[in-house]
Amino acid sequence: MALSANRFQLAVFGSNVSHGCTISSAAGGIAVEWAESLRIAQTADRLGLEAIIPVCRWKGFGGPSEFNHRSFETWTWAAGIAQATAHIQVFATTAVASVHPVMAAKQGATIDHISGGRFGLNVVAGWNSHEVAMFGKAQLPHAARYAMTDEWMSLIQALWTREGEFDFAGEYFQAPHCYAEPKPVQRPRPPVMSAGVSPAGRRFAARHADMNFILAPNLAMAAATVADVHRIAREDFGRTVEVWGNAAVFCAPTHAEAEDYYRHVIHEQGDLEAAGNLLDTFTAESGSQLPDPALRESYLRNMMAGYSGFPVVGTPEEVVDFLQEMAACGMAGATLSWPDYDAGLQQLAQAILPEMETRGLRAPRAV
Ligand SMILES: Cc1cc2nc3c(=O)[nH]c(=O)nc-3n(C[C@H](O)[C@H](O)[C@H](O)COP(=O)(O)O)c2cc1C
Repeated sequence: MALSANRFQLAVFGSNVSHGCTISSAAGGIAVEWAESLRIAQTADRLGLEAIIPVCRWKGFGGPSEFNHRSFETWTWAAGIAQATAHIQVFATTAVASVHPVMAAKQGATIDHISGGRFGLNVVAGWNSHEVAMFGKAQLPHAARYAMTDEWMSLIQALWTREGEFDFAGEYFQAPHCYAEPKPVQRPRPPVMSAGVSPAGRRFAARHADMNFILAPNLAMAAATVADVHRIAREDFGRTVEVWGNAAVFCAPTHAEAEDYYRHVIHEQGDLEAAGNLLDTFTAESGSQLPDPALRESYLRNMMAGYSGFPVVGTPEEVVDFLQEMAACGMAGATLSWPDYDAGLQQLAQAILPEMETRGLRAPRAV
């Protein structure tokens, strides 16, 4: 279920959380005001981008920038954006622990009606126990979290597609005499994205999702993940699933200017404390360690660019070179973030999209 026929699809990511995906105090970051959310979504809509996808965040990571300290709740945000746009697919990103599946199915169907069939669900199994604790819950071990996510999605899928009442009796969710009307506008159901890269995350995506949203340290590892996800979907579930990556774009007319901009945002204004808090939370949750503690600062600087998405620094042509390499890895699309979303979307309109069209990565827009 591709969102469009474009060879390489594009989405705006993270415009609902303060500073977006850039862990920096540099000017121009997302402030989290409704006028700003509308402006960004309506620009992306006018430019013909396939999707707009929020980050699901309940608590920020501190530091001088107070990174992600403010955030719009993603379902209500999606409902408002849906009403204010005409073409773009509007996703709600949701951590399964925060919404009961009966409620999620109803909200998704409602936004699908508000948007005239443009709702999408981005599922995250969740990783942050500080956030889970806000809901009075304890973090489940990773495998159990995915077992719960599997049930959560199965119940939503059933509510979106099954007529009449039915009983759902799972280990995590018991829902007797379940019922949901109206069904979503999109049939058989709205597109489902799932954000996760662990073996369990890949399996979940292969079974339930149309798009697997992944992170990878480099393009070679991204290509290997794409091949693995495609293989699991094909061999174990007889399905196809797209794989999308994440690019943090630092673009300027010359390469030197783009490098200067990156240096300013990441090296001068980057928030090492917030990035450290994010990394420490993640490593504590996952039980993983940095392979070499001496690399901590360079690792953090890389994370600052875009929540561990690929930092893409260069001219519009160089940015398109990178997106083309992502496509060559088998990726179907990229979610994009910028240190300044308004400026980033303007560069996209003026130079990046035309170059992608010239190279056949996207169909020419009807301007
Ligand atoms: C590309 C990507 C985007 C994600 N976005 C969010 C998010 O918006 N909110 C959140 O709480 N977790 C987010 N997560 C984290 C997942 O909830 C978490 O990593 C979970 O354990 C699933 O990933 P895993 O299969 O790699 O373990 C994201 C993960 C990836 C890979």
